[in-house]
Formats: sequence, structure tokens, C-alpha cells
Amino acid sequence: MPPLDHLPDGVFCAADYERLSGSFMAGPTHAYVAGGSGHDVTALANRDVFAAWAICPRVLADVSSGHTRLALPGAPSLAHPLLLAPVAYQRLAHPLGELASAQAAEATHSGMVVSTLASQTLEDIARHAGAARWFQLYLQPTRDATLALLRRAEAAGYGAIVLTLDASIQVPSLHALRAGFRMPAHVVAVNVAGQPAPGAVALQPGHSRIFQGAMSESPGWADLDWLLSQTSLPVWVKGVLHPDDARALQTRGVAGVVVSNHGGRGLDGAPASLRMLPLVREAVGASFPLLFDGGVRSGADAFKALALGANAVLIGRLQVYALSVAGALGVAHMLQLLRDELEICMAQAGCATLAHVQPTTLYSTGIVP
Ligand code: FNR
Repeated sequence: MPPLDHLPDGVFCAADYERLSGSFMAGPTHAYVAGGSGHDVTALANRDVFAAWAICPRVLADVSSGHTRLALPGAPSLAHPLLLAPVAYQRLAHPLGELASAQAAEATHSGMVVSTLASQTLEDIARHAGAARWFQLYLQPTRDATLALLRRAEAAGYGAIVLTLDASIQVPSLHALRAGFRMPAHVVAVNVAGQPAPGAVALQPGHSRIFQGAMSESPGWADLDWLLSQTSLPVWVKGVLHPDDARALQTRGVAGVVVSNHGGRGLDGAPASLRMLPLVREAVGASFPLLFDGGVRSGADAFKALALGANAVLIGRLQVYALSVAGALGVAHMLQLLRDELEICMAQAGCATLAHVQPTTLYSTGIVP
């Protein structure tokens, strides 16, 4: 079904967009978006882990002057802690793709992280998005190509760089493969089109296709140091789960870390993002900026991530689902519903501000996901 130009009937919560999206995306496309890598072990774990935590209500708390404002490196004043995650190829879901998501971000005062693999130019997206727009960077096969992207993002007014490091090798979703998904010809990663592709490495007999092949050009710590030396924008690193990695990145001088497993699209079998979040928070201390993503489908999910140590939360698949149903209107509606859901949880849990959303608001349900 083509996207609607009005709000759909029957959407009462943000997660309803997930339910509806199956009617608006072709089966193989839906499988590509919804799937994790491999057998979906991590993608499913990302969702299930939220059941381990309950939010405890409080009585008679004064939340009458409550708000959800926050400041982050690269976004000094955000109205609320829900940001659009970088999601590639959004023209798969809607003819306007990232332009529609950017309009929704602006209309709802939401931050947006634009993917290197966007299907609209980063300059056009910047013209549609509000002030809180960041650029997600994949290191390119050459430093010149990376620098060219970085300079374009700086010139277009992006406020921060989000360097994704958990995708140096990606296994496609088995669901998408089995459904026969292929990227349509009109959906192109326009910002990196025409740039050198990762070098096709000539393998010697007996060499590993992975170590001597795909991984032979994967980035290392020196590449991070180089990137940090090339820009005065805050650089976040996305795709971190191990507390030691987070600590090392903090020491290296990154502005913040995104605790994420790429929505279960990286290492299949990696722990759920929410499971690792409190361990990462403990490793980096109370004041180091942390974002979180993975499995958020409701305001209660976002609340739990904030309570376990995130300063803000990125929204991945729900963005695509809402985009497929009703374009900019759908994404804006989804963000508004999610924000309402989060604020309802905060009010009921007696939290007037994000600073009140602490681990002490949560109790174990005893459910082991
Ligand atoms: C992604 N994600 C992603 N991340 C990134 O850094 N650059 C990218 O280009 C993409 N592209 C992308 C495409 C699709 C279809 C999906 C579903 C995801 C990962 C994304 O930013 C985020 O980490 C996860 O989507 C978060 O999990 P949820 O919210 O989808 O459960």
C-alpha cells in the first residue's frame, strides 16, 4: 500500500506503527528492515531484555513543573531525549526518504542522526532538519574520501559526528535473504556514490575470506585518533557494548558513546544493548555522555534505558515503520506518541526531570530474558 497523506486510523501508541508497517512495505523490504543479522538472536534479545525491569510508581510527587530538557555535546538544547537513529536507505520506506524524517524531526523538536548511507544528499537533509542534526560517519576506504564527507557535513551545519564502528563486517538478515530482498535501483547511497568501493583484496590460496579478505582494511585506533585530529565537532562513537571499549574511547577524547549493537544487525549473539548499558555507565562514570539504542518501542522502554544510564535514546526501526505508513506525518506522530508515553512514565514514577530518572526507579521483575 502507498504511504498515506494523513494519519492512519488505529494508531494509539508508537508501537502501533510497527504493527501497521507490514501493510505498507513489500514483504522483502519489511524483512530487510525488521531483521537482525543471521538468526536474529541479538535483535530478539534487544526487545526481550526490557521485561527484566519494572518501573515503580510513586505517590504525591510534585511533577507540576516537570520537563524533559537536556543538553548533549553537539546539541546544547534538546526539548526531549528521543532522537532519530541513523538508518540507511530511507527511500525504501517512502519516496521522500530522509527528507520526510528530517521534517518530522524539525516539527517535533527532535534530534536526528543522518546516515552516511542516506538516500538523499546530506545537504538536502540538513535544509529540512532542525538545528539538532548530527552526521553518522562510516570510515571510507581512503582517508581522503572520509575527509571529503566530513567536510561536507561540517559545511552543511551538522552539530556532531557519530562514528559507527560496529559494522566493519555485517552479515545480512537471513529473513531478508530468504525473502529475496534486493536494493531497488532507485534507492542509492547518494553521499558516497562514485567514491572508491572497499578494495577487492586478491586472496592467496588458503587465505581466510574474512581475516585476509573483508577485515584486511578494517579501521583501528590510529584511524580514530586521526579523525579526532581532523575536526572540531564533537565526535561520538556508536556501536559500543564492552565497558573496557567505552572507557578506552573516553580516554581517547571522544565526546560520548552510543551503547548499541546496531539493532542486532552486527554480531548475532551479542548481548542486548540494555543488558550492557549499566555496565558501560559504571565504567565511564556518572557524567560522561551516553546514548542508547536497541529495541525501544515505547516510552516505558525509553524510560528504562534512561534509568539505566543513558542520557538520551535513539529510535531506529520505529522511525522506518512510521515513515512507511505516513511519511513525515507518521514519523512526527510516532515521536509525539513516544514522548507522551515517556512523560507519562516519568510523571507516574515521580520524576519531574531526566535527572530524577535513576536506577532506583526500577525493580527487577524476576523475569530472566
Ligand atoms: C540501521 N542502523 C544503522 N546504524 C548506523 O550507524 N548507520 C546506518 O546506516 C544504519 N542503517 C540501518 C538500517 C536499518 C534498516 C536499520 C534497522 C538499522 C542501526 C540503527 O542506527 C540503530 O542502531 C538500531 O536500529 C536501533 O535498534 P532499533 O531501534 O531498530 O530496535
